[in-house]
Amino acid sequence: MERFRIRGGRPLRGEAEASGSKNASLPILAAAILAGGVSHAWRVPDLRDTNTILGLLGEFGVKTREESPGRISLDATNITGGVAPYELVQAMRASILVLGPLLARFGSARVSLPGGCAIGARPIDQHLKGLSAMGAEIQIEQGYIEARSRKLTGARISFDLTTVTGTKNLMMAATLAKGVTVLENAALEPEVVALADLLNRMGARVSGAGTPVVEIEGVDSLAGYDAAVPADRIEVGTLMIAAAITGGDLRITDCEPEQVHALALKLSEAGLEVSEGADWIRVRGDGSVRPVNVKTAPYPGFPTDLQAQFMALMTLAGGTCVLTETIFENRFMHAAELARMNARIHIDGRTAHIEGVAHLAGASVTATDLRASASLVLAGLAADGETIVRNVYHIDRGYQRLEERLRELGADIRREVES
Ligand code: EPZ
Repeated sequence: MERFRIRGGRPLRGEAEASGSKNASLPILAAAILAGGVSHAWRVPDLRDTNTILGLLGEFGVKTREESPGRISLDATNITGGVAPYELVQAMRASILVLGPLLARFGSARVSLPGGCAIGARPIDQHLKGLSAMGAEIQIEQGYIEARSRKLTGARISFDLTTVTGTKNLMMAATLAKGVTVLENAALEPEVVALADLLNRMGARVSGAGTPVVEIEGVDSLAGYDAAVPADRIEVGTLMIAAAITGGDLRITDCEPEQVHALALKLSEAGLEVSEGADWIRVRGDGSVRPVNVKTAPYPGFPTDLQAQFMALMTLAGGTCVLTETIFENRFMHAAELARMNARIHIDGRTAHIEGVAHLAGASVTATDLRASASLVLAGLAADGETIVRNVYHIDRGYQRLEERLRELGADIRREVES
């Protein structure tokens, strides 16, 4: 197991280029299955999760090759489908994103049910409901989804709740269906829009992505794509909060400031100086932070994926505030670890009441999930003394070389193997 050793109290200063988005790259890589040809994706982040889905695509016979850092070629010309095994799907739930493409291209798919994860049960009933509406026969056998359909047919599907990967999965499935599919109450996330743009570049006919109603007119076949993965708005937000919590001055480039607007507003309310240009955003702090209430919501609301990181910041605010998590039922596990660092947080169901303290104290803490880990790293950057963050494999799922990037910006942080 690996851990980070952090000595706090050093303001982060300088410039960082945003990486490619984890949550945009996963469906983009899965979409290669839909094409009887070669695709090229670039600005693909080098993460455990992207490597997991590349491994999964390899199981189906997709020939993947890293042509240069972040540039991946994916040859799906001669694949015949396959099984998405429990070990891979359990390691990375977003593997469920191969279900729609496999079904669309081959008329059958055998994909392990993802199971739950640390932050919640995370069912996929909406994915399966939509595929059934499109004519797929779905059976669950020994923890696997067995899906079959001679030819998917277009359907009008209304999601009972907005689901990001549900929207992506069904959008991909519908591209090769017979007729028109309409997805109502679709997710608005930028990653959905990026996927729709990519599918249209492959020859699909997707319209309305980024609005609650997405329409997909089925076509006979799709060609490979050549596309860049957009910037990771959650990594950008995490770095913005790192500047705020250390009283530093960071400028993050090659990003889309609009996509972190909800966070930028909250940081301004908290007294940070936020400025932005067409493709960069800058956050300056002076060490003092005002308390700000936050309620997570689907895009363009405050992202649930930045809630843990924002909580770390609020533990040092000059007063009390309330954070409400509306998306996942168990996304406050970082609170108990922050409390080991002298934070004062009271959890009441989906609401966290935070009373700011003057200082956090370095301690040994354990990461439980991806964004909780980021929260603990941020707290360690601001804490007095030394913090050890254990189980950093969670971090490596969603952040590319985080400790190296933070060190380049002035942090005293290094990775160690836990003996
Ligand atoms: C995506 O997860 C992201 N992951 C998550 O990021 C993100 O937190 C989430 O969207 C919300 O923005 C990827 O894109 C790979 P949902 P996803 O389906 O699609 C419930 C990170 O840290 N639901 O939008 O799985 C579900 O339980 C990760 O990068 C159903 O009930 O999330 C949740 O409560 C964490 N039935 C809510 O909807 C379904 O069929 C939103 O889930 C599907 C979802």
